[in-house]
Amino acid sequence: MIKYQKSVIVTKEEIETAVNGLAKQLNDKYKGKEVIAIGLLKGAFVFMADVIRQLDIDVQVEFLIVKSYKNGRTNGKPQIVLDLKKGITEKNIVIFEDIIDTGRTLAAVKEYLKYKGAKDVEIAALLTKPSRREVVVDIDYSLFTIPNEIVVGYGLDYNEYGRQFSNIIALNDAGIEELKE
Ligand code: IMP
Ligand code: MG
Repeated sequence: MIKYQKSVIVTKEEIETAVNGLAKQLNDKYKGKEVIAIGLLKGAFVFMADVIRQLDIDVQVEFLIVKSYKNGRTNGKPQIVLDLKKGITEKNIVIFEDIIDTGRTLAAVKEYLKYKGAKDVEIAALLTKPSRREVVVDIDYSLFTIPNEIVVGYGLDYNEYGRQFSNIIALNDAGIEELKE
């Protein structure tokens, strides 16, 4: 039992099954095509690494850093702080995101990638917290819907704590308080 764990929200076995299913859907949909997988750092790095290793289509990997969170709260204005190395004009993009909360990060990223000339932009989200949504986002692949908890593990953090856990866990009140920045 991890000190700051309130409950297990998604087990590593459940993640593995869902990741396999997503990879299969992407292999079917993009058969014979090229895809650029864009991971939103840091949270999506584990998720994207697991999915792309099961793809048998032509895939390139890029990353974006989008910042807006501190102490589990958004400031509402996502900033893109690491840009893409190559152009994406007329490319098929799949964005990998750890969790969709208010929806503001993805709305900003999707708009940015379209402005950069992408042909098609799909969104693959590991988790979604629909109760917190503030803007509408069209999520193409969403693996787990979770309650309004602060969760960590499988790449997700709370002020950099918890990225290494294999399960996705909800933090208890002590963790939320003691890990505050
Ligand atoms: P949105 O712009 O509110 O949709 O924020 C999405 C981003 O917030 C995600 O990429 C995460 O980095 C972060 N986030 C939201 N909720 C959580 C959580 O419970 N744990 C860890 N990160 C979270
Ligand atoms: Mg994130």
